[in-house]
Amino acid sequence: MPAFMEPFRIKAVEPIPFPVPLERRRALADAGYNLFRVPARAITIDLLTDSGTSAMSAAQWSALLSGDESYAGAASFERFEAVVRELTGYDHVIPVHQGRAAERILLGSLLQPGDVSVSNTHFDTTRASVEAAGASALDLPVDLPAAAPAPFGGDISLPQLQNLLQGPDGSSVRCVILTITNNAGGGQPVSLDNIAATRELCDRHGVTLLLDASRFAENAYLVTERDPGHAGRSPRDVAEMTFALADGCWASLKKDGIGNIGGMIGLRDAGLARRCREQLIAVEGFPTYGGLAGRDLDALARGLQEVTDPDYLRYRAQSARWFGAQLLDAGIPILEPTGCHAVYVDAAVLLPHVPPHRLPATALANELYLAGAVRVSELGTLVFGRRSPHGGPDIPAPRELVRFALPRRVYTKSHLEYVVEVAASVAAKAADVPGYRIVEQAATLRHFTAVLTPDASGDDEETSSEPLG
Ligand code: F0G
Repeated sequence: MPAFMEPFRIKAVEPIPFPVPLERRRALADAGYNLFRVPARAITIDLLTDSGTSAMSAAQWSALLSGDESYAGAASFERFEAVVRELTGYDHVIPVHQGRAAERILLGSLLQPGDVSVSNTHFDTTRASVEAAGASALDLPVDLPAAAPAPFGGDISLPQLQNLLQGPDGSSVRCVILTITNNAGGGQPVSLDNIAATRELCDRHGVTLLLDASRFAENAYLVTERDPGHAGRSPRDVAEMTFALADGCWASLKKDGIGNIGGMIGLRDAGLARRCREQLIAVEGFPTYGGLAGRDLDALARGLQEVTDPDYLRYRAQSARWFGAQLLDAGIPILEPTGCHAVYVDAAVLLPHVPPHRLPATALANELYLAGAVRVSELGTLVFGRRSPHGGPDIPAPRELVRFALPRRVYTKSHLEYVVEVAASVAAKAADVPGYRIVEQAATLRHFTAVLTPDASGDDEETSSEPLG
């Protein structure tokens, strides 16, 4: 394992809380056993998400002061637009307050009822926007060999995409979305070859190719690391090549924009961009600020330049790899190879006694909180499962993953060592970890607000929960 260290030093600090076991038990029960509902003041290490949790650089903080807060035509927008255009090559740059606003506006402007959107994997908010447009979202992730870790586990399945496009339903496909990196599918990268082959298929069938570029820099770095054909290139070059292959993109800039808020849409098609701007004005704001302050646009412009720094990206990949190796040594099954933004743990393997409808990934996440006030997120049946139309147990998610997300430039190696200790203590008593039952849930994106209760029974009884309305 190569040694790594943080390629930055710390200029501003904030204390972290250390709740005692009784406080942790109370906080979790008061939160309805849902970690999204636990207050941050009761968390020691927060690996819930890498989204909006980045530490900005000194240069980003100073860029805030040059923010131009004019309602229309702000200089901050011109600076932001120039940086995004240079990176992506897309003429039309539309700021929004975060990624899901971009999805709602772009997919709502592109898709008609009955259309199909195909993806390596739609992220949950992306799927929600596709469905809100009356279209359906189809995931075609590549088949991964069980034996060996695949370097590009985020790829879309080209044979399946080709079959679909050539088949009777091919004409309903309106767009292909490549999520780079594939967050819901384990944070795995998509190869440039896969993107180029998807481009060809889209051209042949007149389908729009879009990128969910929220982690474009991490994807580009992993291409330079894993594809010998691109080993000598800079991550920035690979990022530019990636954008060049698509018709447009959106991004949550709370990830690789290294911002605490922000997002954007980038497009080549002037007509589609015009429809998006009309929507933008209705729901976000004038096209030169899109729901953000001018100062946010300046911080993001700077972040988008910093994020492709090879030293930073190497550290990002190395820290995830080191962290994953430590978890493996502690007896915790992880998805390999690790990517950049998170390490994913397979809760189904660690907790075989908890069936999918008793939410093994939630069970593991909650136990990590109880053991050491570490917060991670579940990407299992609570997030990706579906309520059965016939009643009875939920239709399970394909995998029961727990994501240990790594906020950018926030935690040091010793913080991660603490998380490994906590995880090892949970692994040592895995057989005693109870499952959970849903008591209340919303009709969509239920994981954010659901109320749960521990349930060790594992029986098949319906959860009989009511939508929150
Ligand atoms: N696309 C991807 C791939 C994402 O990971 C996210 C957010 C979004 C779109 C939506 O962006 O949050 O700015 O509205 N992912 C966060 C996460 C929430 O924790 O992975 P947003």
